[in-house]
Amino acid sequence: MQLKNDLILRAARGEATERTPVWLMRQAGRILPEYRAVRNRLSGFKELVETPELAAEVTIQPVDILGVDAAIIFSDILVMPEAMGLTYEMVEKRGPYFPQTISTARDLEALHVVEGDELSYVYDAIRLTKKELNGRVPLIGFAGAPWTLLAYMVEGSGSKTFSKARRFLYQQPETAHKLLDMIAQSTIVYLKKQIEAGADMIQLFDSWAGILNPVHYAQFSLPYIEKIASQLSGVPVTVFAKDAWFALKDMQDVSCRTVGLDWNVDPEEARKLLPNKTLQGNLDPCVLYASPETIRKETATMLDRFGNHPHIANLGHGVYPDTDPDHVKVFIEAVKSHKK
Ligand code: CP3
Repeated sequence: MQLKNDLILRAARGEATERTPVWLMRQAGRILPEYRAVRNRLSGFKELVETPELAAEVTIQPVDILGVDAAIIFSDILVMPEAMGLTYEMVEKRGPYFPQTISTARDLEALHVVEGDELSYVYDAIRLTKKELNGRVPLIGFAGAPWTLLAYMVEGSGSKTFSKARRFLYQQPETAHKLLDMIAQSTIVYLKKQIEAGADMIQLFDSWAGILNPVHYAQFSLPYIEKIASQLSGVPVTVFAKDAWFALKDMQDVSCRTVGLDWNVDPEEARKLLPNKTLQGNLDPCVLYASPETIRKETATMLDRFGNHPHIANLGHGVYPDTDPDHVKVFIEAVKSHKK
């Protein structure tokens, strides 16, 4: 299938593009009334994730409604712990919850490295989405980075500090490495199958990168990201490690094409540290609460700071749930009409 708009793939490969491509992390779900309409008909979040026809529908909504240059498959990073044997619940208005958690080496006995078929609903959703997109824009597949998934599996839910998960690294480093390795192996199988099903690009979300100290990040996160990224071929890989400004320079040596930046990072600094990578980001999601005039101004300033470095425009983290979709459109239009 020939893509009609492959801007994002060319930018990821480091090629010059006629304009900067743009999409938003967490664009599927969260902000669109059209998403809520689908969601409200169902028993819950998991039914949506596990029903390929519905997942495909909400994946394509932002392409139709917002005009983004890529779709991201509607799923969650937490489908992986579940496939390995640790079920999650999505509690309305509160977030994820794991009835069972990992706290000792014995708990690993209940887990297994995935063979792939556990997550066939994701590949089915990808195949269906590709068919329905009909080449309009590329489709991004994704997974959580091993450290971020371990954090949820040990903590059992979201947390401000993830102190149980960090404590685990100090008290049981060997068990932590064992679990991280199981997650990494599972993720390689999972992402290869996403690519086989039609994902044109892959992003790894290390959402809790920034709570580790630099030494722990180098021991417990980066090697597993590299293990995964180095095993994926044929499509460009993006690594987004939120708040890991201290590890930016190390990303230069990771087998990915693109590095995602949160809004704390100075684009000009990142360009110097990562001369051979495409950069993605990094507007503060709160800019979208401002007036259209301010959104245009801030977006132009951001784009100018990336200059002619290969760049994919995005926010510095996922779009916040109470953002006005019309303001998202202002951001997207501002990127599209920007003169390099
Ligand atoms: O980008 C996209 O739009 C694709 C869909 C997607 C979801 N989750 C759907 C979702 C993606 C890429 C994710 C990734 C994800 N999930 C991350 C990494 C990205 C990040 O934001 O740092 C993390 C940490 C999670 C875990 C998770 N899932 C949490 C903490 C929550 C609750 C809070 C919230 O709204 O995000 C979820 C639920 C979730 N995942 C929702 C959506 C649309 C909202 C639930 C609903 O519709 O009921």
